[in-house]
Amino acid sequence: MTVDHIGYLSSDINKSIQAFEQIGYVQESEILIDNIPDDNNTIRNVYICFVRNDSTRVELVSPIDEKSDVFFTIRRQGEGPYHICYQVDNLEEQIQQLKKMGWMVLKRPAKAMAFDYSRVVFLFKRGVGMIELVEG
Ligand code: NI
Repeated sequence: MTVDHIGYLSSDINKSIQAFEQIGYVQESEILIDNIPDDNNTIRNVYICFVRNDSTRVELVSPIDEKSDVFFTIRRQGEGPYHICYQVDNLEEQIQQLKKMGWMVLKRPAKAMAFDYSRVVFLFKRGVGMIELVEG
């Protein structure tokens, strides 16, 4: 599986963009607002912005308010990396394979606006933590 991006928790997306730029990253997207219910009827309520350098793409994720998906995650673990996202050709196939290895699906696959509505899924396994898969 190829790494698509590293997901990063940020308390203040503008501050994070600036700080990443200072260490050589360039902003790759506008600041996206993800506040529309997804296929699971979850509203993430987050700001998202992609920055990249020569080798790595980082997805900055920042809470819009206290109802945000990541509000308590940031409180608990602070700012920093919180998932690695891998590109896969076939989401269902990959999920089945990972399940056989003991991975647990945290949220059912859903189209993500930050990825032009490609489907993504989050999985968890002890020893690794959370990963994300993006299809295509
Ligand atoms: Ni991600």
